[in-house]
Amino acid sequence: MSGAVLQNAILGLFLAALCNGLSTSGAEFGHLPDNITVSEGESVILRCKIDDEVTKKAWLNRSNILFTGTDKWSLDPRVSLVNSNDSDFSIQIKRVAVADEGPYTCSFQARNQPRTAHVYLIVQVPARIVNISVDVTVNEGSNVNLFCLAVGRPEPTVTWKDFKYDLLSEGEFLDITEIKRHQAEEFECITNNGVAPPDTRRVRVTVNYPPMITDVKNMPAQLGKAAILRCEAMAVPTATFEWYRDDRRRVESGSTLQIKNEKTRSLLLFNNVTEKHFGNYTCYASNSLGSSNASMLLFRPGAVYSRAMGAVVSSGPGVCLCLLLSLLLKI
Ligand SMILES: *[C@@H]1O[C@H](CO)[C@@H](O)[C@H](O)[C@H]1NC(C)=O
Ligand SMILES: *[C@@H]1O[C@H](CO)[C@@H](O)[C@H](O)[C@H]1NC(C)=O
Ligand SMILES: *[C@@H]1O[C@H](CO)[C@@H](O)[C@H](O)[C@H]1NC(C)=O
Ligand SMILES: *[C@@H]1O[C@H](CO)[C@@H](O)[C@H](O)[C@H]1NC(C)=O
Ligand SMILES: *[C@@H]1O[C@H](CO)[C@@H](O)[C@H](O)[C@H]1NC(C)=O
Ligand SMILES: *[C@@H]1O[C@H](CO)[C@@H](O)[C@H](O)[C@H]1NC(C)=O
Ligand SMILES: *[C@@H]1O[C@H](CO)[C@@H](O)[C@H](O)[C@H]1NC(C)=O
Repeated sequence: MSGAVLQNAILGLFLAALCNGLSTSGAEFGHLPDNITVSEGESVILRCKIDDEVTKKAWLNRSNILFTGTDKWSLDPRVSLVNSNDSDFSIQIKRVAVADEGPYTCSFQARNQPRTAHVYLIVQVPARIVNISVDVTVNEGSNVNLFCLAVGRPEPTVTWKDFKYDLLSEGEFLDITEIKRHQAEEFECITNNGVAPPDTRRVRVTVNYPPMITDVKNMPAQLGKAAILRCEAMAVPTATFEWYRDDRRRVESGSTLQIKNEKTRSLLLFNNVTEKHFGNYTCYASNSLGSSNASMLLFRPGAVYSRAMGAVVSSGPGVCLCLLLSLLLKI
């Protein structure tokens, strides 16, 4: 018991001498790099190379003693002695934490001269995204504000890129004012600090807009044959389609025609065209944001239809007529 007390007292004296040496002697022992950089979680060995006959030696973390000779003072199980002989005095720190960053000192006495070597441990943390906006759905014309929060040591950069990998903005926030439908996509947030490969995450922005009918065509049809009328509409959310005849009569699927609705279009399928099928059809596309309609003709080639769609003027096919027909139908 008293032996231990005595030993501590001796160590105390010795350390006082070392610390005194630290402050009075500027002599640096030249074999250590000034900075050691290590990633969080890794192990690091702090080496102290000695080229002289050494009587006492110690490793310190700031002013806390880690080792004096082979005696461990640190209670931290991650700290261990790797080597201790006349030329090398090295310790290891396992699973390095951010708190370990700081100055470490190897102190020793050679020929009764206190000497020190300093090393600064830099702990890096790979850049990592810790929180990012959830996927959003907005109406066209709204403002969209996205965030992407990142951590890391050194302080990481944060950038936003779009689908085509164009840089949109630097920083944690991406603000889009009055978003347009073509801006609906996945936005990628990238954070990097050079410690590890960049961390990336994506946010999907869905932009709602009312249906816009993109493609309708008047279609020629032969009696007794099949025919199809098509109505394409761009819309988010997906449009629902309805068909009407000229007099706003609702067209329903039946034995002679079927309505086939797909994601972006609706088809009106005539299995066997009869006289009564010729006419003016209106496609009506709607979603929660609005609606749109477009009209098209199912016509008999060589026939010219009046505006009212009642009378059919028959005539022989000809180039001029076809031109006239196409002009009429464009109205
Ligand atoms: C050690 O790191 C500090 C910053 O952490 C820097 O200012 C200094 O230049 C570095 N020294 C060397 C030798 O790299
Ligand atoms: C001290 O240990 C190191 C590493 O094990 C070894 O390379 C070196 O030769 C040893 N020096 C002496 C003087 O024993
Ligand atoms: C070094 O000292 C700091 C501050 O006292 C402490 O948080 C850290 O755990 C120490 N690291 C080691 C490896 O002793
Ligand atoms: C992420 O940020 C949102 C909005 O600020 C917040 O509600 C949420 O709790 C955060 N999530 C985490 C894991 O921090
Ligand atoms: C179309 O209908 C007509 C009259 O109802 C019938 O004579 C003809 O066989 C049908 N054609 C086809 C391909 O079903
Ligand atoms: C069809 O669209 C026109 C404008 O293009 C609009 O005036 C009309 O009310 C629409 N019809 C229906 C049934 O929505
Ligand atoms: C077809 O019907 C629509 C709606 O009733 C009308 O606006 C359009 O002028 C008609 N087209 C023709 C060629 O008659």
